[in-house]
Amino acid sequence: MNVPFVDLKAQYAQIKEEILTELENVCQNTAFVLGPFVKNFEQAFAEFIGVKHTIGVNSGTSADQLALQALIKPGDEVITSPNTFIATTEAITAAGGKIRFVDIDERSYTLDPAKLTGAITPQTRAVVPVHLYGQPADMDPIMEIAVQHDLFVIEDAAQAHGAKYLGTGKGDSAAGKSGEEKAWMNCGSIGHAGAFSFYPGKNLGAYGEAGAVTTNSDEVAEFVRMYRDHGSKEKYVHDFEGHNMRMEGFQGAVLNIKLRYLKEWTEARRKNARYYNQLLKDIPGVQTPEEMPYARHVYHLYVIRVSDREGLQKYLSENGIGCGFHYKYPLHLQKAYSHLGYKKGDFPVTEKAMEEIVSLPMYPELSRKQMEYVAEKIKEFVIERGGCGA
Ligand SMILES: Cc1ncc(COP(=O)(O)O)c(C=O)c1O
Repeated sequence: MNVPFVDLKAQYAQIKEEILTELENVCQNTAFVLGPFVKNFEQAFAEFIGVKHTIGVNSGTSADQLALQALIKPGDEVITSPNTFIATTEAITAAGGKIRFVDIDERSYTLDPAKLTGAITPQTRAVVPVHLYGQPADMDPIMEIAVQHDLFVIEDAAQAHGAKYLGTGKGDSAAGKSGEEKAWMNCGSIGHAGAFSFYPGKNLGAYGEAGAVTTNSDEVAEFVRMYRDHGSKEKYVHDFEGHNMRMEGFQGAVLNIKLRYLKEWTEARRKNARYYNQLLKDIPGVQTPEEMPYARHVYHLYVIRVSDREGLQKYLSENGIGCGFHYKYPLHLQKAYSHLGYKKGDFPVTEKAMEEIVSLPMYPELSRKQMEYVAEKIKEFVIERGGCGA
């Protein structure tokens, strides 16, 4: 049996007719850059997330950058966790910020709010919690600390389309000031801005590069809308130097169709995660992912922990199963960030997790038979072959 790590063809087969018709419409309207198809998607996504504005851009990296650039000044320190894709920190640098890392919580793999206050200096201006793998970061305590220290919060929701957090999102829940009831809120609607990626393999994926900023702030929205289009509101009238970070019409059209299926696809991912949990739970030395009590995880990635991840990956690969490491090395130990002066041991929770994590195939179309086969091969590696120290 063959179980690829992602299978975008299976999804395409389901929606091919609708997609091709809409792409034809884009051509007939010659609406190739921004235009009505992008606008329709922006409105639909804003409604889906529960924010006033969605601004479509050309990638999640640009979304991270522009959300930050709208809020911070050059030289400001920005805190994030070291177990994220480098786009998060590239965006901080591109926005003129200075990267500061804080370790993660070992259960959720997201920024540990208990370690946040200790990393804040008078230069700190923003925090970027990453809703990694589709699991929301613990936003209420993060918002609480942000309010106390007058920080902006930019959610990196690149992997968390439709993921929900149970809280007040107000930053005063821990102190109990608001007395407000907790409610389920979408990732990307809680902080001052959110950044989404629509890279093809994401839970909501375009047919090329695309991303979006979400926000309730009119000022942030206006800055991002203008910056993505050369600092202009009106063609050839430029209030400041921006860049070309516009979303393409084809991407807006594809995303708008796929957004209608996202709820159904997310339920399928969650169902698959529950089935994997059940299949893997009794295999010694295999730790399955934990959905935090405050979280509705959307399983962009289904990540287990084992002691010999290289061995397991090799064994699965030999048996036709694709898997990945998200990520291979923590950012503070990458050559790109040697100038920041971090060393091994600085973020022990991240470092240990990064040596043990393996992402298994995960997508809505994954069949029970495929998951059973993956579980069977993991069992074989651990029990029969004595892998992972069993
Ligand atoms: C956490 C995170 N942030 C940002 C990005 C950047 O998104 P894009 O690839 O669309 O530029 C990604 C993409 O993988 C991501 O996983």
